[in-house]
Amino acid sequence: MALVTLKELMKDAQRNHYAVGMFNTLNLEMIKSVIRAAEEQHSPAIIAVAEVHAPFNPLSLIGPIMVKAAREAKVQIAVHLDHGLSAAAIKEALELGFTSVMYDGSTLDYEDNIAWTQQVVEWARTTGASVEAELGHVGGGEAGTAEENHEAFYTDVEQSYDFVSRTGCDALAVAIGTVHGVYRSEPRLDIGRLRDIHAKIQLPIVLHGGSGLKETDFRNCIEHGVSKINICTDMFIGMMNEIRKVADSGSINYTEVITATEAAVAEVVKQKMTLFGSNGRV
Ligand code: 13P
Repeated sequence: MALVTLKELMKDAQRNHYAVGMFNTLNLEMIKSVIRAAEEQHSPAIIAVAEVHAPFNPLSLIGPIMVKAAREAKVQIAVHLDHGLSAAAIKEALELGFTSVMYDGSTLDYEDNIAWTQQVVEWARTTGASVEAELGHVGGGEAGTAEENHEAFYTDVEQSYDFVSRTGCDALAVAIGTVHGVYRSEPRLDIGRLRDIHAKIQLPIVLHGGSGLKETDFRNCIEHGVSKINICTDMFIGMMNEIRKVADSGSINYTEVITATEAAVAEVVKQKMTLFGSNGRV
C-alpha cells in the first residue's frame, strides 16, 4: 500500500532538498515502467495523466489502473491529474481516488484563476487529495515556440504570495522560462525570479517542461525551491527511437514494441531520478 498524496511526497523532498519526478503515463507500459524504475531506484514518484491525453485512454479506464498500480508499488507513489482544465475531469479524478490534481487556470484572468483554484481546493479537501495550481503560464506543446515563452507570461513574484494564501493550494507551478515539448533554442531559466518566489512562499514549487533541461538547470531549480519536476517529452523521444528500431528490423511482432518502449521509459525515468536526487530516499 504505497499510494500517497503529493503533499506527503513534497514534505520529504522539501526537507531533504531533492525533487520528485512527475511522469506522464499515457498507457499501461508507461505506468508499469515508471513504477518499476522507482522501485529499482528506491525513489518516490508521481504518475500522471493529463486531461489532454484522456482521449487516448479515458480517465475512467486508465485511472483505476494507475491507482491500483500505485497501491501495489513497493515505494511511495502519488497519482496525479496533470493540467486539469474542466470541472468534470477534476471531479472524476477525485472520485477515482487520485491523490493529487492540478488545476490549470494559467490562461485565465488572475481573479478567475484564484476563484477556480479555490473551488478545486474545496472539492479536493473532501477526498484528502492535494492540489497543484499554476500562476503565470508555461507555454509550448509538443513544439514549444519562443513566443509562448515570452517573459510576459512569467510568474509575478508579488502575486505569488497573494495567490497561494488566497487559494490554499498545496504546490505552485511557476513560469520561469521552461516550455512543454522540445526546446527550439537553449532554455534560459530565470533563477532570480524563482529565488524571489521561493522567498515569498513556503509551498513546494513545481517545474513544468522538464524535458531537455541540463543537470545545472535542475540543480539550480532544486536549490531554489523546486520539489516536483514534470517529464513527458523525453520519454516520448526515447520510446519513438526504440519503436523506429523495431520497425526498421522488419519485425511484425508488436510485443517487441511493448518490451522496447518499457525499457526506454525506464531508462529515462531512472536517469531523471538520479538528476533530481530522489533515488535512495525510500
Ligand atoms: P515536457 O513534455 O516538456 O517534459 O513537460 C512535461 C510537463 O510539464 C507536463 O505537465
